[in-house]
Formats: sequence, C-alpha cells, structure tokens
Amino acid sequence: TLPTHVRIIEVGPRDGLQNEKQAIPTQAKIQLIEQLVDAGLTYIEAGSFVNPKWVPQMADSGDVFSGIARKPGITYAALTPNLQGFERAIAAGATEVAIFAAASEAFSQKNINCSIAESLQRFTALLDSAQAQQIPVRGYISCVAGCPYSGSVDPQLVSHLAQELFTMGCYEISLGDTIGVGTAGQTKHVIEAVAHHIPLENIAVHMHDTYGQALANIYAALEMGIGVVDSSVAGLGGCPYAVGATGNVATEDLVYLLNGLGIEHGVDLEKLIQAGNTISAVLNKPTNSRVARALSSQ
Ligand code: HMG
Ligand code: MG
Repeated sequence: TLPTHVRIIEVGPRDGLQNEKQAIPTQAKIQLIEQLVDAGLTYIEAGSFVNPKWVPQMADSGDVFSGIARKPGITYAALTPNLQGFERAIAAGATEVAIFAAASEAFSQKNINCSIAESLQRFTALLDSAQAQQIPVRGYISCVAGCPYSGSVDPQLVSHLAQELFTMGCYEISLGDTIGVGTAGQTKHVIEAVAHHIPLENIAVHMHDTYGQALANIYAALEMGIGVVDSSVAGLGGCPYAVGATGNVATEDLVYLLNGLGIEHGVDLEKLIQAGNTISAVLNKPTNSRVARALSSQ
C-alpha cells in the first residue's frame, strides 16, 4: 500500500553538483540550498567532505555550510567517507552525515579506494564519534541494481550490507541505483530482500534516471510502503566513479508524481521549479526535469 506521506531527501547540492566539471561559485550553491528550503524541502544534502583531489567540485563544502542562512527544523546533511571527513563536516556545522558503501567490490575500490570490508571498518570509527556527539548517520548502498564495472549485483549481498550498516548504527539505509539500470520488478526484489533484515520504515530509495526508469522504480517502492525518497532538483547529478551515470530522478518530477497520488510531501512545486531553473541557468544547461520543462513552456 502507498504511504500517506513521503519524506523527500534533496541531494541536488551534493549528488547533483559533485560531477559538474565547471567551477560553480560557492554563492550559487548557497543560494540553491536556501531556495530549496524556501520551497519546503526539509532535508538537504548540502555537500561532501571527501578528498578534494578526488571530487574537486565539493572542495568548498565547508564554505557552503558556513554560508547558509540556517532555518530551524531543517537538516543540513553532509556526505562523509571516513572519520576525517566526519570531523570536517561537524566543524562546518553539518547536523547529520551520510556514509556510503557499495554492494560491489569493484565499485567500492574505484569510489572509495578500499574493499567493502575495509569500508565498514572505517565507518566504525566514524559511527562511534557520531554516536558520542548524537549526530544521526544515514547509510547509502551503491550499485544495488548493478555495477558499472562488474555487472549484476546479488540482492542478497545488498540485504546483508544493509543489515550490517543498520546494526552498526545507521538509522536509515538508502538503496542507490547508481547507474540507473534497475527496473520496477528488480527494485521490488531488492527491497523485499532488504526488508527481511531491516524494517521497511528504515529503508529509502535513491534512483538515478540513466535508463529512464527512476519514476517507475520509485512507484514500485512506494507501493511496497517505502516512505523516504532521494531526489535531485532539475535532475542534476551523476557519480564521478560511475562513467555514463546521469542525474538522479528530478525532485520536480517526484513531487508531480506524489501530487497525482495524493501523497503529502510539503513542497511547493512552483518554487521548486524556480530553484531548478536558477541553478540550471548557472550551469548554463537545460533542466533535466520533464515537469519543469513542460510547465515552463506553457
Ligand atoms: P584514500 O586516498 O584511500 O585515503 O581515499 P587515505 O586515507 O589513504 O588518505 C589519502 C589522502 O587523502 C590524505 O592526504 C588524506 O588526508 C586525504 P595526503 O596526506 O595525501 O595529503 N583524505 C581526505 N581529505 C579530505 N577529506 C577527507 C579525506 N580522507 C582522506 N575525508 C577517500 C579515500 C574515501 C578519501 C577517497 O577515495 C575519496 O575521497 N573518495 C570520494 C568518493 C566520492 O566522493 N564519490 C562520490 C560520492 S558517492 C556517490 O555519488 C553515490 C551515492 O550518491 C549513492 C549512489 O548513487 O549510489 C552516495
Ligand atoms: Mg547518487
């Protein structure tokens, strides 16, 4: 059954921008975050604290976090790969962090330069520190529907990793179809497998739209009762370590879907489209949101 309310996790300022090659002014990132909050989004993944040599676009995340005019009740989250990143994120004022593992050894090596087992070890130190400071930690699993380097991924591997991250202290596990290859049936299988080990309310979906399947996959997840969905304004995004991976599902398109289903989400579509159009103008490229395109051409 469909949920009555969906919590939207806006990842545009991080996942959306991290792969952009041109330098984006820090001020434009700050403005984007403020516009997203103004549109009603309450959870913003505002940046990442990874090695800036690996992802140069996120090198100014500290300045982004300190430049935001904070609003109460909003989560300003950061992506963090290790204790060093966690400490940088907290120093910058992140109120929540996300760690990221992969359900594929090959992707883990390319993305974070270590095996899956090693990554879990690194996360332990981070989780200990987060727990001591009462900072909530979200856990991503990449490649849940396939890996750009090694192909198909076993849902059992995803579910075991989800269980591991949950047991370690992540309050929510976001299942990432990093390269957007999954289909609705496969999405259901993966969620079923994960739901054997962790409660449905602690599972989120993170769909990239490379093959045009993201909304169908999200609908499949909603039908199973999933109530947390990651998305990126203007459909921005891609992972630097997943060649050819395009943007996340556009938040505008997700909001349109939820509106049609009568599912609450708290976002003002018009303001959201404005935020998407503003950042698209900065990037000098058309929006990837079909809804924004359709409504802007009327
Ligand atoms: P490493 O080279 O193995 O790290 O990288 P190391 O511990 O050996 O340290 C090497 C150097 O990195 C040292 O500096 C460290 O200080 C520095 P040096 O002594 O050489 O000058 N370093 C750091 N600097 C700043 N912040 C840090 C940090 N950690 C180490 N946190 C590491 C390991 C994980 C750091 C590296 O591989 C990395 O930064 N990877 C980034 C990967 C990334 O950001 N990928 C994109 C995000 S994931 C994604 O998009 C998927 C997702 O959206 C879900 C989905 O769609 O599936 C989440
Ligand atoms: Mg992603």
